[in-house]
Amino acid sequence: MNNCSQAPQTDRTRAAAEQYLESWNTTGMDWDAWMAEVGLAKAEFAKLIGARPDDIAVFSCVSEAASAVASALSFKGERTKLVVSEAEFPTIAHVWLAQQERGARVAWAPVCDGTIGPGSYDALIDDHTVLVSSCHGYYMNGFVQDVARIASRARDAGALSFIDAYQTLGTIPIDAPKAGVDFLAAGNLKYLMGIPGIAFLYVRPEIVETLHPTVTGWFGRANPFGFDAKSLDWSPTASRFDTGTPPVINAYVARAGMEIINEVGPASIRAWLEVLGRALIEGGQARGLTLHGTDDMRRKTASTAFVVRDSHAVEQAMRARGILPSARGIVIRLAPHFYNTIDDVDRALDTLAAVARDG
Ligand SMILES: Cc1ncc(COP(=O)(O)O)c(C=O)c1O
Repeated sequence: MNNCSQAPQTDRTRAAAEQYLESWNTTGMDWDAWMAEVGLAKAEFAKLIGARPDDIAVFSCVSEAASAVASALSFKGERTKLVVSEAEFPTIAHVWLAQQERGARVAWAPVCDGTIGPGSYDALIDDHTVLVSSCHGYYMNGFVQDVARIASRARDAGALSFIDAYQTLGTIPIDAPKAGVDFLAAGNLKYLMGIPGIAFLYVRPEIVETLHPTVTGWFGRANPFGFDAKSLDWSPTASRFDTGTPPVINAYVARAGMEIINEVGPASIRAWLEVLGRALIEGGQARGLTLHGTDDMRRKTASTAFVVRDSHAVEQAMRARGILPSARGIVIRLAPHFYNTIDDVDRALDTLAAVARDG
């Protein structure tokens, strides 16, 4: 029940990791195959969001992807404002705050009662705005934002949009080109059934050639294998955001995990998770648990948060009883995935209610 934090290991992802180890062991070095696998992982990510493989760059984590995006922005002219949601996972906010050194000003779209009203963005986005940063799903309680609307408001004001889709990707269908977002980033260890050490960034193809990230490296070149130290030949595609040697074993695992999700299908996954999400909300209320954020399943992921006195103690006590939840600050999160059942939800809620009552 902790898919909002780390999905479980599957036979397929384990086999993928072993495939890399086997290739390394038997060939000693097979860079062509390894680079091809990174390309296939990009392609699988692209498929998830309705994009093309050329629109995707690869990183070791989402923070690094956001830092690369930040490094491609200028804060020298009239546009110095970064509109940032208070629901960002802290790492994303930290990247934007760090740009204050370079002349950026951060304006916060506030969280009220665990959600953000769309008007909060409208009030902040203006012709001084460089970029609007918002998460698709709030890590604390699963609240889902209308990223197409946010991207459109940003675009109308001449600003860019950055979406962190880590908490939704694979469980809520999203078409990044149709939504009109400029950047969309996510890693793989949560609902994409993967591991730490890899993350992907979508860059809208219409803007890619206007961007020159100063967080860069040889894989960002038009021909990384040109080995020309004196030429900064930008790749014409999103791979200009690539930096150095990619995380190869992680790409094997990430591809296998995303294949599972693409095969089951985010729309089918969403349909089932709406059922489990409602069961969590209603079952929690019936057991006297205090929900954090909205009870409207149309505006949330299946990750459902309950306010508890000491979330880490509750997590430990639940683990001891065979349930793995996820503690975050004042809440305990129950985050099922497509393979979970109503029985899993009931058992998790019974255990949480008992632990909360005893503790
Ligand atoms: C919404 C969201 N963004 C980002 C992260 C982490 O980013 P990174 O890959 O930089 O560790 C998390 C959780 O780990 C998250 O829930």
